[in-house]
Amino acid sequence: MKIGIAADHGGFELKESLHTFLTGLGYEVVDFGAHQLDKLDDYPDLIIPLAQAVASREVERGVAVCGSGVGAAIVANKIPGVRACLINDHFSAHQGVEDDDMNLICLGGRITGNRVAEEFVQAFLEAQFSGAERHKRRLQKVIELEKK
Ligand code: RB5
Repeated sequence: MKIGIAADHGGFELKESLHTFLTGLGYEVVDFGAHQLDKLDDYPDLIIPLAQAVASREVERGVAVCGSGVGAAIVANKIPGVRACLINDHFSAHQGVEDDDMNLICLGGRITGNRVAEEFVQAFLEAQFSGAERHKRRLQKVIELEKK
């Protein structure tokens, strides 16, 4: 599975750690930056290219990190086709995929420790959309909203 990752300065350290973790698990990782710590960078500049790559299926799933994960989730969800969410618990990391077909996980580099973040990301990546009728129906309503 090809995974895209991106972070601003608030998530840089966690993104670097997750890059190593994901590579170790055998995932192909595309790093959309930042490629070095820049305390003046702005999360939209890093997260939008990642979100666009998720939407176009250049990468299958995305991992976005900023300081809180909030800005990353807000901007990523502006891209049609992206279903991003800030994740702070293990249940939502996989249930968000199983029920809602979440395709981009957002994390807070100043909130979530590296080991816990690894568990969230692994749960996210190993989960699959259930395809249950009720979930497809709900997802279709989200897709219809994006078209308006
Ligand atoms: C940057 O200082 C910080 O505001 C940003 O990383 C993020 O937390 C925004 O939601």
